[in-house]
Amino acid sequence: MTARPVSGVHLTGWGAYAPSLVLTNADLEKMVDTSDEWIVSRTGIRERHIAGPNETTASMAAVAGLRAIATAGLQPDDIDLILVGTLTPDYPMPSTAALVKGAIGNKRAAAMDLAAACSGFVFGYATAHAYVASGMAKHVLVIGAETLSRCTDFTDRGTCILFGDGAGAAVLSASDEPGGTLGIEMTTEPSGAYFIWLPAGGASRPTGEASIAAGEHYMKMKGTETFKMAVRTLGSTATKSLAKAGIGLADLDLVIPHQANLRIIEGLAKSLDFPMEKVFVNVGSYGNTSAASVPLALSEAVAAGRVKKGDRLLLVAFGAGLTSGAITLEWTADPAAAARAAGIGPADVSVMPGYLEPVNPFPPALEWVRAGAASPTTTP
Ligand code: ACO
Repeated sequence: MTARPVSGVHLTGWGAYAPSLVLTNADLEKMVDTSDEWIVSRTGIRERHIAGPNETTASMAAVAGLRAIATAGLQPDDIDLILVGTLTPDYPMPSTAALVKGAIGNKRAAAMDLAAACSGFVFGYATAHAYVASGMAKHVLVIGAETLSRCTDFTDRGTCILFGDGAGAAVLSASDEPGGTLGIEMTTEPSGAYFIWLPAGGASRPTGEASIAAGEHYMKMKGTETFKMAVRTLGSTATKSLAKAGIGLADLDLVIPHQANLRIIEGLAKSLDFPMEKVFVNVGSYGNTSAASVPLALSEAVAAGRVKKGDRLLLVAFGAGLTSGAITLEWTADPAAAARAAGIGPADVSVMPGYLEPVNPFPPALEWVRAGAASPTTTP
């Protein structure tokens, strides 16, 4: 790693990956007491992707990461640092980032995970920015990746309708060209620490028979409290990021918010008096993929032609902690560069020696999804 401070930190690569298995609201109607109408009207979610039996956070992160590296026109060994934001690492140790490094064939990067729940990618972006701006790294791969289906209680209708699996990634690079990252804001509010939490599996309550019997290995959430705090925090974090960038809301071309719930996104736009036409939304197809949500949405926004050179973007997220982060940036990459990642898929990432195959990857309620044919709406 070098140590020459640079003036510009640019997003040069982007990529995403979502598993092919799709769980629809119709599927969920067969599992819990809910309805498509209730889910769509309260959340905007119609379907979500679920990791296959051999997919994990590391495997999905590696595919998204390889795609971002290719889009940036780089090779895996050009990356100096790999950061993976996740609340569902493959193991408590080693880090998922270390597994990603091995899977993409990088021989020289430092690699570590970052725990900020749904703000994981935005916090990772901010961390990568600091490394690049200080001259400690030239190219940093930032990934948000989650396998939330493995800690979702598919008998709890209050949470199981919300979450999905996937990964998204970006490469941040040093450049003295104008544009790039303009303003970053990050906050953490521990008074909301237990609004969304996963009680067991850590040092406070290691997973054991008692914690499993109590369902403490599943995510718990106070939905209404989270909702209110999310709208408030997203708005103030966004405004502070814009102030640091020295621009106003009217200067923005596109806002890419954390895709938790359409009503939260609409609440944010309303509180800022910002038009929904300039807000990118794909929660309907993915649900809440936590740290993967912002980079997944970013990749889709670029692919949909919603981002062009010179555009000013705001990426804004909130998550357990409660964490919140916002990045204001001027887009300088050629959107067509995504074509360089064409053809990159799961077959291009390698499994580390010693890697444990996922055990019981589908909870009992999802067993029939594995069969595929059991559900007319599920893609096996
Ligand atoms: N289907 C049908 N009915 C349901 C369902 C369901 N899936 N889930 C809850 N209900 C019922 C409740 O039991 C309740 O019934 P009752 O009135 O008889 O008691 C009723 O619907 C209303 O429940 P509320 O919780 O008040 O519903 P609300 O409108 O608040 O919507 C929701 C719930 C969608 C969870 C909302 O609160 C929300 O989106 N909160 C934010 C969640 C979020 O974004 N979490 C992610 C945080 S990011 C991270 O770090 C992971």
